[in-house]
Amino acid sequence: MEKVENDLRAVFPELDTMQDRNLAAAVVSVWQRVLEKSDWQDIREVSFSPGVTGPTLVGHTRAVLDHALAIVHSLRQVHKRDVPVDGDRLVAGCILHDVDKLLILAPDGQGGCVLAENARQYQHGFYSAYYAEQEGMPPEIVNMLQAHTSYSRIMPSTLEGVILYYADMADADVLKYTYGKTPSVLKAIGKVDRSQ
Ligand SMILES: [Fe+2]
Repeated sequence: MEKVENDLRAVFPELDTMQDRNLAAAVVSVWQRVLEKSDWQDIREVSFSPGVTGPTLVGHTRAVLDHALAIVHSLRQVHKRDVPVDGDRLVAGCILHDVDKLLILAPDGQGGCVLAENARQYQHGFYSAYYAEQEGMPPEIVNMLQAHTSYSRIMPSTLEGVILYYADMADADVLKYTYGKTPSVLKAIGKVDRSQ
């Protein structure tokens, strides 16, 4: 537990400033329990995506939280939209959104990853939501985790969930594009690549 907690706190100092200390502890506990069930030894080794060598899952997760916080900044500072944002919910949801990838991706033995059998059985987001719910997290956070992927037909139920959705897609799709892959949201809405 201690190593996972230290690794997470080093990358996500926001964990230390969350007001709900029980929620912060539950975030760490979910990562720990998922790591124990997975084939990975160290959360820092987990790759971002099959066929994309280099970026890590933890790095992607850090970028998603950065994007999410930037969206909140723009809402408040640029648009002067003084809408309530639950900071603890946003931080917890961002840090947990892809924790299920420890179980749907498996190490390929060469520093990358392959799809695990679980990926054929469970929709992306399922395990993140499942473990969060088991840990006693509120439905608003469980919903964020379920709804954050384009595979899900469920609409995010909160502003924090909408922010997570776009923060995640921004980092994941831009990063994939730099590796020559088609951004999944653009593909899903039927954008045509006219260079091919
Ligand atoms: Fe993600």
